[in-house]
Amino acid sequence: MKTYRIATIPGDGIGKEVVPAGRQALEALAARSDAFRFEFENFDWGGDYYRQHGVMMPADGLDALRDKDAILFGSAGDPHIPDHITLWGLRLKICQGFDQYANVRPTRILPGIDAPLKRCKPADLDWVIVRENSEGEYAGIGGRAHQGHPIEVATDVSIMTRAGVERVLRFAFRLAQSRPRKLLTVITKSNAQRHAMVMWDEIALQVSREFPDVKWDKELVDAATARMVNRPASLDTIVATNLHADILSDLAAALAGSLGIAPTANLDPERRYPSMFEPIHGSAFDIMGKGLANPVGTFWSVVMMLEHLGETGAAKLVMNAIEQVTANPSLHTGDLGGNATTAQVTDAVCQHIAAHARPALAA
Ligand code: IPM
Ligand code: MG
Repeated sequence: MKTYRIATIPGDGIGKEVVPAGRQALEALAARSDAFRFEFENFDWGGDYYRQHGVMMPADGLDALRDKDAILFGSAGDPHIPDHITLWGLRLKICQGFDQYANVRPTRILPGIDAPLKRCKPADLDWVIVRENSEGEYAGIGGRAHQGHPIEVATDVSIMTRAGVERVLRFAFRLAQSRPRKLLTVITKSNAQRHAMVMWDEIALQVSREFPDVKWDKELVDAATARMVNRPASLDTIVATNLHADILSDLAAALAGSLGIAPTANLDPERRYPSMFEPIHGSAFDIMGKGLANPVGTFWSVVMMLEHLGETGAAKLVMNAIEQVTANPSLHTGDLGGNATTAQVTDAVCQHIAAHARPALAA
């Protein structure tokens, strides 16, 4: 029997509700599997920890995570703490500390979801966005001088390294190659950003030669937003810089019907460190503590975690459970226009897992 060591970090707001829901689904799987079990360790890092200790996580926090097989993360963000502190003090510290350079964001219109694009059939929108997750606009390079004076100055310098660009583009080409359509769109802005993005384009061309069976094209990031709305079926795998993909992935999630559904994997493809899985939504303080959060984004993140661990049968089972739930409007939470609770959706997913575990987990 295989044991996977999973760190759970609920973080702030509704993260504290959806991460336990994700853990419940994992426990429902393990209860019916002869092949694997989970060993969980929970970390109470985030805004409350910051109020007590003055930091979002302890200085040696990464060491506590280092030997885990995966991390399930909720959200970081607190209305009483500046966003750049919550972000840099926890989530980015883990992503960058563990060199999780490939951020993967699948988007589909799940059964039963009323998506806003009226001319788009659900099958037309099946994308995976690969976000560069270690440098670029999020490199953290810059500073401020003359603070509070009329001549105040501030810089945020985007850093692109050849090695960093090459590895994420290679990851994206490989992912595109593994999908049925073998289609990749490389997002750029090399018309305006005439140094780093020109290098990005050059490296895309170089890496593309390793993947002759992948069809690829380039799209400027602004034009890409229009293309996502007007010609969704022309896209499949998409790769973009840290900030470009941040923006495009919110648009993608909205076009698929709700931010509450979308998942993310922060991957170290070389598996030197644990990878981290999280719903794309934020801490949503307006609904926190009410049991109204949509746990589907976390369940889908759990699917990505299981895929990463190589448990493909279990991953498919959880994805089927999610699709059963979304297909049933009485199990829609508020973000989808329904009034189901986190607990009702979680129970339905766990029941589906229990009912279908036999053939699925034996396979
Ligand atoms: C995301 C989020 C974060 C980001 C926020 C919370 C800083 O929007 O994961 O897309 O911009 O990276
Ligand atoms: Mg974002």
